[in-house]
Amino acid sequence: MKKAFSVILVVLFVLTLTGTTFAALKVGVSMPTQSLQRWNQDGGHMKQQLEAAGYEVDLQYAGDNEVPLQVSQLENMISGGCKVLVIAAIDGGALTTVLAEAKTQGIPVVSYDRLIMNSNAISYYATFDNFKVGVLQGTYIRDQLKLDTEKGPFNIELFTGDPGDNNIVFFFGGAMSILEPYIKDGKLAVKSGQVARDQAATPSWSTERAQTRMENLITSNGYGPSGVKLDAVYSSNDSVANGITNALVDAGYTPENFPVLTGQDCDVTSMKNILAGKQSMSIFKDTRTLAAQVVKMVDAILKGGKPEVNDTKTYDNGTGIIPSYLCDPVFCTKDNYKTLLIDSGYYTEDQLK
Ligand code: BGC
Repeated sequence: MKKAFSVILVVLFVLTLTGTTFAALKVGVSMPTQSLQRWNQDGGHMKQQLEAAGYEVDLQYAGDNEVPLQVSQLENMISGGCKVLVIAAIDGGALTTVLAEAKTQGIPVVSYDRLIMNSNAISYYATFDNFKVGVLQGTYIRDQLKLDTEKGPFNIELFTGDPGDNNIVFFFGGAMSILEPYIKDGKLAVKSGQVARDQAATPSWSTERAQTRMENLITSNGYGPSGVKLDAVYSSNDSVANGITNALVDAGYTPENFPVLTGQDCDVTSMKNILAGKQSMSIFKDTRTLAAQVVKMVDAILKGGKPEVNDTKTYDNGTGIIPSYLCDPVFCTKDNYKTLLIDSGYYTEDQLK
């Protein structure tokens, strides 16, 4: 009897040591949309890695960027017993009420990729260095057009993403930190005059809306392969770049005369466009790395430890600075995609054919 009791004690001790509990703790993961490749990858990686760490996962996608759906999914995660919420918000200002409930119930929230604004319920933020994303894109345009040595002027138009996504402040801000001096001294001309962030915005990061705006810009400014030369289009991400590409191709542009066009995410459609000469570059943000970092954060929170952060200055959500971990973005072109994407196992060569 005594022996059996000691065996049970030893088993319990080992289970505790290995972090195994009888009922796994539940983590809520809320993603903004299922209609964009990157968020499917983010969600998939989060689920896989959290489960491997021994957690139960409630993973939800808010339809196609539907804010009320994201709110109700979060309500269900709170009432369903999630111990931590990981949220990539559609509109970082629209979650204040539901997150106040999380805070009341003592459920910590990790803001994933996008900073959730005006809520004091956010414990941590994990993302890529979003300002650097913009700087890499702006620098690419500067170098491709040789703005420091060529006379110009060069024509450019500007596109960013959804106005409710705090990331565009950094993407657009980073790009403009490089391009603005050239716009000011006239070497870069934005013929439409649409240079402010809200004028360049693309609601829901929609490919269709970007396409329509690019078509309008082509018509109203006379851009075309045999019309007014369009040298570059700044786009904050790939879903927007895809719409721009569609409009440019419809207007008769070919790989031989295609404007310099930026993007972000290395989505499959964009990588195929890059290989075909219908987009110039993208930004590679390895979602496996971001997920791994967030899983470490969640694990530290639930075990009473201190999550690793590397930025405690940049991200103020209106209630104060949110301690952040920034992963490193890198630029990707047809010259380095093999090393970045294929050799690292992110894609197979076949997926990009
Ligand atoms: C992300 C980008 C993504 C965009 C559209 C941004 O918040 O950081 O990687 O392309 O949302 O989903």
